[in-house]
Amino acid sequence: MNLKSTLRPLAGDGQRLFVETYGCQMNAGDSEIVVSIMQQEGYRYTESIDEADIILINTCSIRDNAEQRIWGRLSEMRRLRKQRPALIVGIIGCMAERLKAQLIEKDCGVDIVAGPDAYRDLPNLVRRAQGGDKGVNVELSKEETYAEIAPVRLDKSGVSAFIAIMRGCNNYCSYCVVPYTRGIERSRDPQTIVAEARILFENGYREVTLLGQNVNSYKFGEVGFPDLMAMVAEISPEFRVRFATSHPKDISDRLLEVMARYDNICKSIHLPAQSGSNEMLKKMNRKYTREWYLERIAAIRRYMPDCSITTDLIAGFCGETEEDHRQTLSLMREVGYASAFMFKYSERPGTFSARHFEDDITEQEKTRRLNEIIALQNELSLQHNRQEIGKVREVLIEGESKRSAEQLCGRTTQNKMVVFDRGEEGAGEYVKVLITDCSSATLFGKIQK
Ligand code: 5AD
Ligand code: SF4
Repeated sequence: MNLKSTLRPLAGDGQRLFVETYGCQMNAGDSEIVVSIMQQEGYRYTESIDEADIILINTCSIRDNAEQRIWGRLSEMRRLRKQRPALIVGIIGCMAERLKAQLIEKDCGVDIVAGPDAYRDLPNLVRRAQGGDKGVNVELSKEETYAEIAPVRLDKSGVSAFIAIMRGCNNYCSYCVVPYTRGIERSRDPQTIVAEARILFENGYREVTLLGQNVNSYKFGEVGFPDLMAMVAEISPEFRVRFATSHPKDISDRLLEVMARYDNICKSIHLPAQSGSNEMLKKMNRKYTREWYLERIAAIRRYMPDCSITTDLIAGFCGETEEDHRQTLSLMREVGYASAFMFKYSERPGTFSARHFEDDITEQEKTRRLNEIIALQNELSLQHNRQEIGKVREVLIEGESKRSAEQLCGRTTQNKMVVFDRGEEGAGEYVKVLITDCSSATLFGKIQK
C-alpha cells in the first residue's frame, strides 16, 4: 500500500456534497462522475440537502421551461444561503455553459459555474469559492471523455445502469442547443467502456444502456458502434444491452444485423423523427427525408419484426403549416410508435433557427398541435400494448411496483414496463410473464412457471 497517498490530507476533508440533477440521462451519468471526482478529493456524498456543505445543481438548457425551473430553484438557494452563510452553491452542466458570466454577474447566489467538460476542476473551483472568489470554468474540450473515472452509482436500484460512450454532438440540428453546451463529438476508448460494463455485471447489474447524443457515429480507432455493441453483448447472455440515442440519418444495416444476432441486445430503438414533413426536416437540418426515415423503419422491421420503435417529436417549429403538422400525425400512424417524447418548439438563443427563422407559431397553436400529437400517441401506445396481450415475454425484474408491495415490475426486451404479482424471484432476475392486460403506459401479467 502506498502510505504517502493514504496519509495525504484530502482537500475535501469530509465536507458533504449534495448533487441535484435535471435533464437527460447524460446529465444523470455526469452527476455520477462529479461525485466520483469529488470523493477522490475527500468530499462525502450526502442524499440530504439539509446537511450539505456544497450543493451542485446539474442543469439542462434543452428547452426554456427546463431553464425556468432551475431559475426557480436558484431563488430557493438564495434563501438557503442566508440561513447557512458557509454554504457553497454551484451551477454545473448545460445551463452553466450557455449562460456563463450571466450567472456570476447577476446576483444569483451562485459561487461556482462549471461546464460539462470542466468537472475535473471542481475540487479546485470549490476551494476558490471557499476562499471568497468565484469558481468559474466553462472551457469546452476536444478530448475530455472522463474515460477512466469510475462513476459512483447514485441510482440505488442495482439492476440497470447507464454508460456514456461519447460526449458532445456535431449534428447542429437548427433548433438544438446541445452542440453549443456540450461541444464537439468525441468517443470514449472502448476498452474502458467494456471494463465498466463488466464491473456492473459482476456487481449484479443485469442491464446497461450505452449513451450518446448520436451513438451511431461512435468511432474510436477501428471500433465503430456495431462493434462496440457486440463487445458489450459478449460479456454475458444474462446481461442486457440497450442504447440511446440514434440519429435516423446514420442508423446502419450493420447495427441492425448485430442487434438481430444477439438475444441480449434489446429489441427496442429510439429513433427521433422530430417531424413528418420534408419541409420541416430540411429547415431543422436533420439531413434525412420522410422517405429515408420510413425506409430505415422498414429495414428495422426486416431484421427484427418484433422490435419496438419510439421517437421524439417537435410541434410548432418555425413556419410549420397545418399541412406539415398533418404530415407528422400521418408519420406517427404509419410507423405505429410504441411511445414518444413530444415537445412544443422552444427557441434557444444562439441556435441556427433562432438566428435565421421566426418563431412564428403562437403558443396557443403549438399547444393545440402538441395535444393532437399526444392524443394520437396515446391511441397508438394502447394499440401497441394490446398486441402484447396473450404473449409470454421475458421480463428483467427491477423491483417492487409503485402501486403495491405485493407486485413487482420490470421491462420486456421491447422496453415495456410490466407489472405482475410477486413470486419467489426478486430484482435482477429474469422471469417469463404472460401478458394478460394493459393500459397505454403499462402491461399487466402473470409469472409463468
Ligand atoms: N425545442 C423543443 N424540443 C427540442 N428538442 C431539442 N431541442 C428542442 C427545442 N429547441 C427535443 C428534440 C430532441 C429531444 C432531446 O429534445 O426532440 O430529440
Ligand atoms: Fe441536438 Fe440534433 Fe445533436 Fe440531438 S442530434 S443533440 S437534436 S443537435
